[in-house]
Parts: sequence; structure tokens; C-alpha cells
Amino acid sequence: MDLAFRVERALRAALDPMCAPGAPPRLAAAVYHSVFPAGARIRPQLCLRVASAVGEDVPGLADGAAVAVELIHCASLVHDDLPCFDAATTRRGQPSTHRAFGEPLAVLAGDQLIVLAFEVLARSATAAPARLGRLVTTLARGVGMPYGIIAGQGWESEPSIPTTLYRRAKTGALFEAAALSGAISAGADAERAEAWRVFGQRIGEAYQVADDLLDVLSDPASAGKPVGRDGVLGRPNVACDLGLGASTQLFEQLVQSAIEAIPPCAGREELCDWTAGVVERIRRRVRLSEEEARQEQRTSSA
Ligand code: IPE
Ligand code: IPE
Ligand code: MG
Ligand code: MG
Repeated sequence: MDLAFRVERALRAALDPMCAPGAPPRLAAAVYHSVFPAGARIRPQLCLRVASAVGEDVPGLADGAAVAVELIHCASLVHDDLPCFDAATTRRGQPSTHRAFGEPLAVLAGDQLIVLAFEVLARSATAAPARLGRLVTTLARGVGMPYGIIAGQGWESEPSIPTTLYRRAKTGALFEAAALSGAISAGADAERAEAWRVFGQRIGEAYQVADDLLDVLSDPASAGKPVGRDGVLGRPNVACDLGLGASTQLFEQLVQSAIEAIPPCAGREELCDWTAGVVERIRRRVRLSEEEARQEQRTSSA
């Protein structure tokens, strides 16, 4: 089955029970608005790709893990867009959730997505309950303190922000959780699952570097969200801090070390190909060819 279709179907199945009679309809609509239309869906695809590379043996468990990761990601975007954080008016080419439904429903929609993520995970693990504890703690580590998204967003309220730690927490941690959850859902024991951490973290870090480049190089229509915001908000942005050439080089280094960190497994070659395809799409998205980046570096060092 096509992976993108599999992710959308599993997400709809996760959200549909919310529309039961008696549920507040505007809140349900705000939750749908926060998940659809699809963004890149890179985190759930990463989870499913790792599960398939390791060897899926419990149908539905990797779907649950992939959906849980994407719901957490969507929640993080809803909260990140609120006026008290990045004050973003658009997301995925449509009004951000608080612009469409107001702040109270946006806060609640984000909260609901976090709760739903753990609920979906628990429901999907009925056929392999022994794996549930590790799946829950892996996801929680990617979301909470001290190293997850919440910690990453928390750094924005500190007097100084350690750039690498910030990038790893706000973005790398959920990619790490996606990779590890894929391995755990396919039956990897603690040691084998742990071997996926570096791959997840590096690909996540590279993704945030590309997002920083996008903030500098793209336009709101193609990004589907406001651009040029990091500078205005005083957020660390590697493209602003290091320049286009050095940040593109950092992106390429992170990608290289991610690919090298893919542990030996039955589907390693396919996973390498998928990762290379994703990276190529990211390169095109930021519209910065390696040649342009090299030129930029020559200019800035002249
Ligand atoms: C945006 O992530 C936020 C970051 C952590 C970089 P995505 O670029 O994956 O957002 P969607 O899911 O495609 O909208
Ligand atoms: C995303 O970082 C952090 C989250 C955990 C949501 P950004 O603030 O750079 O993401 P965008 O640019 O708003 O998508
Ligand atoms: Mg933001
Ligand atoms: Mg950004």
C-alpha cells in the first residue's frame, strides 16, 4: 500500500471517533483543521520506513506509532503558532488554527492532539502489549522535558539559547522518537532500537536547518507559512547565524552522518534510497543548489 495513503487513512481513523454525538463540534473541527490538509508527513513516514526496514510483525502497531508521532507534531505546530509563541497567521497554506477558530479552541485542539496521540498508541498495542511501555516512554521523551519539544520551546524563554541543544530538542527529538518507535513497533529489543537514535536525531537536525534556510529563502506562498519570522522574533536561525553557505554545508554534513548511522538491517538499502529521496526534495524546496551555496560561501569569505 502507498505509504502516504496509509498515513492519511490511519490519521482519519484516529480522528473520526472524536465526532461522536455530544462532542463540541467546533473543537472537533479545530482538531481536524490542525491535522488536515497534510504537510510533509515526514515523521510518520520515517517511523513506517524504519519499521519496515527492521521487519514489521504486528499489523497496525507501526501505524499507531506513526500516527502518534504525527499528532504530536501537529499539536506542536498549533501551539507554536499561537500569539504567545511565534504568532503565525498561516500554516500549511491555510489560516493557523487560532486564526480560524480562536485561541481557546487552538489551545484545546493542541491539548487534545497530545492526549489522542497516547490513546492511539495504547489502542494499537493490544496485540503486542509488551512493547507498549517502551513506545510510550520513547514518545514522551520526544515531547517533554528535559530533551523533547517542550524543552525546545522552553529554551525560547531563557536569557540565552544553546543553539544545537535547542535544535535537537525542538525538532530532532521527535524524529528520534519516530525512528525508535518504528524499530520498537517492529519488535527490536532495547539495544537494537537504541541503535536508531543517531539516525533519527541527525535527520531531524538536518530538517530544522533546512527549515531555517526556508525561513530566509522562501516566500509565504510556497512555504505555506510566514517567512522571515525567526529574525523578527529573535530566534536562533542557523542560516542567519552562519550564512547560507555554511548552513547548507551543515545540512549536508548532518544528512551524511544520518545515512552513515543507519544500523545494519534487512531493509537498509531501501531506507537509504528513501532518505536520499527525501533529502533531494528538501534541497529543491529550499531552492538552494549546492552550487549556489558554494558560490554564496565564496562571496561571504571573499
Ligand atoms: C515544521 O515541520 C516545523 C519544524 C519542526 C521544522 P514540517 O515542515 O514537517 O511541517 P509540516 O508537517 O510539513 O506542515
Ligand atoms: C518548530 O520550529 C518548532 C516546533 C516544535 C513546532 P519553527 O518555529 O522554526 O517551525 P515553523 O517554522 O514555525 O514551522
Ligand atoms: Mg514557528
Ligand atoms: Mg521555522
